[in-house]
Amino acid sequence: METYSNRRVLLAQRPNGALSRDCFHVETVPCAALEEGQILIEAKCLSIDAFIRTVMYEEAYHGSLPVGGTLVALGVGRILESRSPDFEVGDAVFGPIGAQTHAVAPASLFRKIDEEIAPLRAWVGALGVTTGLTAYFGIRAVGCVQPGETVVVSAAAGAVGSVAAQIARMDGARVIGIAGGPDKCRFLTEELGLDGALDYKSDDVEGALRALAPDGVDVYFDNVGGELLDVVLDQIRERARIIICGAISQYESMESVRGPSLYLRLAERHARMEGFAVNFFEARYAEAQRELSAWLDEGKLVMHEHVFSGIDHFPDALLTMFSGGHRGKLIVEP
Ligand SMILES: NC(=O)c1ccc[n+]([C@@H]2O[C@H](COP(=O)([O-])OP(=O)(O)OC[C@H]3O[C@@H](n4cnc5c(N)ncnc54)[C@H](OP(=O)(O)O)[C@@H]3O)[C@@H](O)[C@H]2O)c1
Repeated sequence: METYSNRRVLLAQRPNGALSRDCFHVETVPCAALEEGQILIEAKCLSIDAFIRTVMYEEAYHGSLPVGGTLVALGVGRILESRSPDFEVGDAVFGPIGAQTHAVAPASLFRKIDEEIAPLRAWVGALGVTTGLTAYFGIRAVGCVQPGETVVVSAAAGAVGSVAAQIARMDGARVIGIAGGPDKCRFLTEELGLDGALDYKSDDVEGALRALAPDGVDVYFDNVGGELLDVVLDQIRERARIIICGAISQYESMESVRGPSLYLRLAERHARMEGFAVNFFEARYAEAQRELSAWLDEGKLVMHEHVFSGIDHFPDALLTMFSGGHRGKLIVEP
């Protein structure tokens, strides 16, 4: 049997507020021999996700990562060795690979993916659990967006936001994206074809939203939380739906999360706010992935990918998520 070495990214220390490069350490170790029921995977594309940051807290909803532990990451890889009857050498799989070039893991945590349906990168992006599927179920199952409605999406130039905005538009809504900076706003209207865009870093957000949605907002797909949530809450229509997908503005200070102060608008306007976690829709993933891949093939869905090459750049990719220096999906190809 060939021996493989694994280069991996560890949590060197818990961040105190904003993430910094010194929170991470990269090392190379030999891969362990497989036990019965395990597979050896060579990582091909790793998904950069916000939960990689939130598990760095000592107490975390998705389970806390110990200092010295390998950073968590979902990804797509190829099987190099298998001691599981369910997988063969060469199979492409999706699952919790971690921030590393190679993973020895229980086969039961992984599922095969079909490269005929979509290329490997798409399985962490447009068809990915934490990207395309999150957007799909947020818009369709939680927001129940209807034709003619006005939908606002925050972090609209990012991974989940850009897909959510495009699905809402395909479903016949008027869609306004919120993003940081004029270039991202141009991207939203000119490349993604949204009906309007608002730069939360420089516009008078309240006034700009009123101008773009004079009759109010029917659905708000929120990725950001914080102050922006209050601005939108103040402008919702009767029977509006606020979809709490995430709150990235709060992830670097989770000990003191800022909630909305204008939540009474929900009562005044007979509206509702509903959070969701994508894994609650697991039974419907395959059906949604078929639809997402058809949209990709037909050119109806555009997924920008911002790719970092080399596992040593995993920390840089994660830092980029918080500085907003990307469009679409952040991916690391180890
Ligand atoms: N509910 C679920 O099951 C589920 C699953 C996956 C992801 N999510 C959530 O989906 C959201 C988006 O995740 P993603 O992977 O698609 O990331 P992303 O949108 O590609 O990247 C994050 C974006 O957030 C914006 N941002 C960062 N810090 C901010 C701040 N302090 N204030 C305002 N905006 C800020 C940046 O865009 P700008 O340059 O425009 O500021 C950045 O590009 C996250 O909140 C995540 O937790 C939820």
